[in-house]
Amino acid sequence: MERTYLMVKPDGVQRGLVGEIISRFEKKGLKIVGLKMLRIPREMAETHYGEHKGKPFFGPLVDYITSSPVVAMVLEGKDAVSVAREMMGATNPLKAAPGTIRATYGMDIGRNIIHGSDSPESARREIGIFFRPEELTDYSRAV
Ligand code: CMP
Repeated sequence: MERTYLMVKPDGVQRGLVGEIISRFEKKGLKIVGLKMLRIPREMAETHYGEHKGKPFFGPLVDYITSSPVVAMVLEGKDAVSVAREMMGATNPLKAAPGTIRATYGMDIGRNIIHGSDSPESARREIGIFFRPEELTDYSRAV
């Protein structure tokens, strides 16, 4: 089974969309194996978004993601990374397919509601940044 890292960003939390977003993933069939709310320390944000260092939006992105709490989660399921990416839609909400989370709730690339890993390798890296191994659970679920 594959795991992916998802994070409801400050705009999603502030707008009260956490339950709606988690519910979409649960109903789809992805299993929650890790979940927490946190205010991201600056250094952790810079590590998480390290691939964007040097880009013009890096500073504002780090300022924003550390400005207010996020809800971080690890979801598990078959092809979890690509399933979650399909459900989120394109990074720019204006280009996201209708019905996706970003298309439904977002209007701005910098306030696009949710982050999700873009590959299984990124997922492993990002899960390791936000969760200690003992914070992830392992259980079977009736389906
Ligand atoms: P996310 O999936 O969290 O990964 C990087 C984030 O940078 C992205 O979502 C956007 O919210 C943010 N961002 C802000 N401006 C840009 C931009 N011009 N291009 C890409 N990402 C941007």
